[in-house]
Amino acid sequence: MRRLEGKVALVTGASRGIGCAIARALLDEGAHTFLVSRRREAVRKLAAAWNAAGGRAEALSADVTREREVNRLIARVKKRSGRLDILINNAGVFTYKPFEKTTLEDWRSNIDTNLTGTFLCTRAALPLLKRKRGGHILNIISVAGREAYENCSAYCASKFGALGLSRVLAEELRPFGIRVTAILPGPVRTKMIQKLGLRVPKGRILEPEDVARTVVEALTQPQRASLEEIVLRPARGSL
Ligand SMILES: NC(=O)c1ccc[n+]([C@@H]2O[C@H](COP(=O)([O-])OP(=O)(O)OC[C@H]3O[C@@H](n4cnc5c(N)ncnc54)[C@H](OP(=O)(O)O)[C@@H]3O)[C@@H](O)[C@H]2O)c1
Repeated sequence: MRRLEGKVALVTGASRGIGCAIARALLDEGAHTFLVSRRREAVRKLAAAWNAAGGRAEALSADVTREREVNRLIARVKKRSGRLDILINNAGVFTYKPFEKTTLEDWRSNIDTNLTGTFLCTRAALPLLKRKRGGHILNIISVAGREAYENCSAYCASKFGALGLSRVLAEELRPFGIRVTAILPGPVRTKMIQKLGLRVPKGRILEPEDVARTVVEALTQPQRASLEEIVLRPARGSL
């Protein structure tokens, strides 16, 4: 049985990596899924391939750091589906540099995408999520949202902020029957990590599908239960 049949979902940063795996998992569970990234062609191709295999995917482009684009995105979702049950704030960037080499541009791109992007998408989507009880917001954060790592000042600052925001939202949205889940993965095999060129010992890194499975797990809890924070690490320890 497909467990998300009848639900409408939106995934930011769905063009590759973790967001792409999450979108695929939601479609496999029967959700009507909006795939969002800045590169429309990338999400359009994915949606076309998955729809050919029987999915219900739609591609939309938006830069999550831009208020107007985010508001337009949610207006399109409203027009096309009239509802939204699941918002996955996943779009993210990662700067890996010593603090003294971190430029203002690096700093702003991490804060704007990882923190302000989550703020803008959530704020714009809330009126739709509130329409029916049972809405769910999932924020893909990182273990760097609660632990300090060298060379990750801008990233950690943005992810600590995103975890704080997620915790406040969980409290504020409880009366509306909206659940908020923060997922904190350790290293995952995606372009974000691959571009660092690290040698990854076997078994010391997660796959995007591991995060996607965790998202589905959180979404399919009975309505009375809320998985609020999930730390997901490679079982054999990180790279
Ligand atoms: N990989 C890891 O080890 C790891 C671990 C823990 C947490 N995370 C978190 O997981 C999330 C996904 O990371 P990933 O590893 O899958 O990274 P990735 O492979 O680099 O993918 C990032 C995604 O975000 C999108 N994106 C970036 N900036 C955007 C913007 N301004 N507006 C809209 N979309 C934007 C990109 O699409 P376009 O370029 O097409 O816009 C892409 O789809 C991030 O929040 C990351 O911090 C990753």
